Amino acid sequence: MTAELPPQASPNIQRIGHPDFTQDLDLTADELRSLLHLAADVKRFPQNYSSKLFGKSIALLFEKPSLRTRMTFELAIQQLGGFSILNDGPIGSREPLKDVARNLDRWVSGIVARTYLQKTVDDLARWAKVPVVNALSDTWHPCQALADMQTLQEHFGALRGLKFAFVGDGNNVAHSLMLNCARLGIDFVIANPPKYDASPEVIARSTLIAAQTGCTVTATHDPAEAARGAHAIYTDVWASMGAENEAAERRTAFADYQVDEDLFAQAEPNAVFMHCLPAKRGEEVTDAVIESPRSVVFDQAENRLHAQKALLLMLLA
Ligand code: CP
Ligand code: NVA
Repeated sequence: MTAELPPQASPNIQRIGHPDFTQDLDLTADELRSLLHLAADVKRFPQNYSSKLFGKSIALLFEKPSLRTRMTFELAIQQLGGFSILNDGPIGSREPLKDVARNLDRWVSGIVARTYLQKTVDDLARWAKVPVVNALSDTWHPCQALADMQTLQEHFGALRGLKFAFVGDGNNVAHSLMLNCARLGIDFVIANPPKYDASPEVIARSTLIAAQTGCTVTATHDPAEAARGAHAIYTDVWASMGAENEAAERRTAFADYQVDEDLFAQAEPNAVFMHCLPAKRGEEVTDAVIESPRSVVFDQAENRLHAQKALLLMLLA
C-alpha cells in the first residue's frame, strides 16, 4: 500500500509592482525574497505551474551568444505552458527600436532581450506595452543573480551573515551580485585589478543599501583579502562579450586574480566556488577549483531555469 502524499499548497504568486525587469532593482527587496521562495517551490513541484503561462507567447531577442540564458528561457516558457519565438542579431538596426518594440507588443505577452547597451533594453521597455526582461546587458545580468541567490540559499539555508567574494572584473555580473547581496544582508567584497573597477555608482548604491540591511560592501585590489573567511568565491571571464579585443591585455592585468587552490583555501572550509559560465579554465579559474566537490557551478546553471520561471510567473501569470 502506498501512503498518499498530502496535497502541496503552492505559495501565492506575488505580482511584481514594476512592469519590467530591466535591472535588479526593478524588484523590491520583498519581491526578491518572494521570488526566491517561489523559485524553490517551482523547482520542487514543477507540475503545479505547468499551465500558468498557457496561451502566452514571449519573444527572445539576442544580440549576443548564449547557451544557458537562451535555453533556460525557452525551456521555462515551454514548461509553464507558453510559447517562445527567437530572433538573433542587432536590435533596432534595420528599423528604429521603437518600431520593433511596438510591433512585438502586438504579438507577444513579453520580451526577453540580451543586449550590448543597457539603453537598448531600457528603450525596449519604454516603448513596448508588455514586460521586458534583461537577459544580460553590458551593465547588468539580473537573471543570473537571481539563480545565484537561489543557489546560495539552497546551499547555506540562511543568507544573512554570509561573506561573498567576487574576484575578477567589475562587470555586469559583479554589478548584479553586489546589489543582490547588499539587499539580502550578505557581506560583499570585490577584488579586481586597478582600472577594472566596478561602476562607482553601483558601489555607492549597494553601500547605501547594505547600510540599511546591516551588511557591508567592500572594494579592494587584494584577492586574498576578499577570499579570507568567505563562504562563496565567485569569478567570471576576464573579457566579457564585446571586450574580446582586449583579451590579451586583460590576461596580463588579471594574472594575479586567478581563483586557484591557494586562493580558495583562504576561504571558509565549507566555502563554495561559483561562476556564471562559460568559464575559461586556466584563466580566471583553475580546472582543479571548478571541478572540485565544492564547486556549485552546475547548480547555478540549473537554477537559471527555476529562478526565471519564478520571474516570468511574477511578471506574467
Ligand atoms: N551565464 C550565462 O548567462 O550563460 P550564457 O551566456 O550561456 O547565457
Ligand atoms: N560577463 C560575461 C557574462 C557571461 C554570462 C559577459 O558579459 O560576457
